[in-house]
Amino acid sequence: MDLKTTFLGLPVDNPFIIASSGLTSTADSVKKCADHGAGAVVLKSLFEEQIIADKKTLLQHDDMYFWYPEAIKYVDNFSIEQGIQEYLHLIEKVKKALQIPVVASINCVSPLEWPKFAKEIKNAGADGIELNIFIPPTDLKLTGYKIEETYLDIVREVRKETDLPIAVKVGFYFTNLYRELFKLSNLEISSLVMFNRYYRPDIDIEKLTVISSNIYSSPVEITLALRWIALLSTKVRCELIGATGIHDYAGVVKNILAGATAVQLCSTLYKNGIQYLDVMRKDLEKWMTAKGYDNLNAFRGLVAKNEENSAAFERVQFMKKTMGKMD
Ligand SMILES: Cc1cc2nc3c(=O)[nH]c(=O)nc-3n(C[C@H](O)[C@H](O)[C@H](O)COP(=O)(O)O)c2cc1C
Repeated sequence: MDLKTTFLGLPVDNPFIIASSGLTSTADSVKKCADHGAGAVVLKSLFEEQIIADKKTLLQHDDMYFWYPEAIKYVDNFSIEQGIQEYLHLIEKVKKALQIPVVASINCVSPLEWPKFAKEIKNAGADGIELNIFIPPTDLKLTGYKIEETYLDIVREVRKETDLPIAVKVGFYFTNLYRELFKLSNLEISSLVMFNRYYRPDIDIEKLTVISSNIYSSPVEITLALRWIALLSTKVRCELIGATGIHDYAGVVKNILAGATAVQLCSTLYKNGIQYLDVMRKDLEKWMTAKGYDNLNAFRGLVAKNEENSAAFERVQFMKKTMGKMD
């Protein structure tokens, strides 16, 4: 069975990419991913603020980056300089030990200063760079247009500094998501990762405090990306990478049927262990055998290309077919 595909335009043996997270934060954990047959890995994100900040600790500086509790620990535990050096060292170490593509990740909010650092990422040996961009839409003075332009500016500035393949990982908080994704895809990027899943604070009604819950996604979350991958897959030149809510082989199949080139996995591997990659791969092969497909291209985008299906992906309101009435 041929599961070969690409990620950031780089050949990979299979579509199972390990998403940037604690699963990819050390040389040992990354090796484990490779041992269980990951197609590629995206390393834990380095924060833009780590790259440009002075010696002030990041926690005093700004707290808008800490959408995952583990990020607080992660950033608070080392000095800025040490953090950067450790990150570059991690890239070098992992690249020396592994054959699969290793992609660095930067969590960024602006196109200022930090893009120069892309050169160091390349020198350390990374095969590509994933820009995990999130500009919190919580500033009353910031217009939607300005936010959307900043995403594009970040990519342009990074492109000026490096010829490494670029993936852009985004959320879905845009007024016209379709247009923004299309515009991003027209810059010189290789992959759009759809979508990131941000930390979702909850409230403890006994202690009256904010608590972290739902750190991991649930399988029902898969449908959001499926819609937009299906709608864009016939329109863009870059790869579309499915992310969020992919918990088993069926989730991988759905994304490829929608037109994705590969998928990123995180929550399911936290819950089931990295060895679950073996199960997912075998299950995918079983499904392909049963359907008579011997490679991923044989069914990539099949559902999205069908006109009736694309109309279904565009539909947002529930409709009573028989009565032609909106619910
Ligand atoms: C504990 C944890 C840490 C994460 N850290 C990062 C990160 O540093 N950078 C990033 O781009 N995404 C990060 N993510 C988001 C994941 O890469 C992924 O996009 C998200 O969890 C959705 O995929 P899933 O449904 O397979 O979990 C993190 C997710 C979790 C659960």
